[in-house]
Amino acid sequence: MSARQRVLSGMRPTGQLHLGHLVGALSNWKRLQDEYECFFMVADYHALMSEYEHPERIRQASYDNVLDWLAGGIDPSRSVIFRQSDVPEHAELFVLLSIVTPLGWVERVPTYKEQLRELEGRDLATYGFLGYPILQAADILLYKAHAVPVGEDQLPHLELTREIVRRLHFLVKRDIFPEPKALLTEAPKLLGTDARKMSKSYGNTITLAEEPGAIRATVQKMFTDPLRIKMTDPGHPETCNVCHYWKMFTPEGYAPLWEECRSAKRGCVQNKRELGEHLIRLTEPFRETRKRFAAKGANAYDEVERLLQDGASKARAVAQETLRDVKEAFGLASCNVKR
Ligand code: TRP
Repeated sequence: MSARQRVLSGMRPTGQLHLGHLVGALSNWKRLQDEYECFFMVADYHALMSEYEHPERIRQASYDNVLDWLAGGIDPSRSVIFRQSDVPEHAELFVLLSIVTPLGWVERVPTYKEQLRELEGRDLATYGFLGYPILQAADILLYKAHAVPVGEDQLPHLELTREIVRRLHFLVKRDIFPEPKALLTEAPKLLGTDARKMSKSYGNTITLAEEPGAIRATVQKMFTDPLRIKMTDPGHPETCNVCHYWKMFTPEGYAPLWEECRSAKRGCVQNKRELGEHLIRLTEPFRETRKRFAAKGANAYDEVERLLQDGASKARAVAQETLRDVKEAFGLASCNVKR
């Protein structure tokens, strides 16, 4: 057994990953591998909960997301990379947790009401969707994760997971799980290229595998400091989205650049051109990885599939043991058979 603490996190494969995922999650995941035993999950059941009317993109997005994880430094020889639906224990633990979770607890989760309101054009008034955070709790608890790297929006789900742990421990009169803590990403939010909230549906994202031409075109259209009309006007980098991107993507190198902007030595056109080139360099590994796999022709995804199967068997070994503990705690019959 590894002495390191465990981390579990997941992403929903609903589309292409973008720069927001890189600063908000992926860079963080990469770092955590040094310190924790990590499980990174493609949350395809969670994706299906909102996309079940048009599920055809989930499989492809799962493969593409995993390729981006690999390009972003997630190392399958150090971390377990797997797909939720390949590990049936998630569904089983979900049932057990559903049994002990009071209805009021899930109805109160703020993300639930928000998503019902925000995700227009989808019928989310399903029984399954109400259970979204219970399935997430099952994801986390199956691996007895100590820590879960998440964005702020997921905090209510973590809190619910801890409440479920306490209730379950009380009911079965024994402790099975650590209470998982959230590892909040420190990076402040990256805004979309139009300075609104970054969102696929606004079309203001740059995907990680985006072609250089598209990156250049998008960055060229970004808004800069509205108070700076002529190049000789002093800039205000703290209110300029382009400068904010510099800060996010070169935390060590942005200061002199901001200074040049303040003293009007650097114009907005140059600033955008150089940011575009910087982002193109930064995203090179993502395009490279896609190309490398695409070159395999018709079997491009076989290798990803094998990697996921390998991950699933490692994940299952842990998940089965946990599930057995829980079933045993509830006195379910199959657990009385000696191992
Ligand atoms: N709900 C998470 C999100 O939308 C995805 C997710 C599913 C997850 N299961 C998880 C995150 C378990 C952390 C742990 O971002």
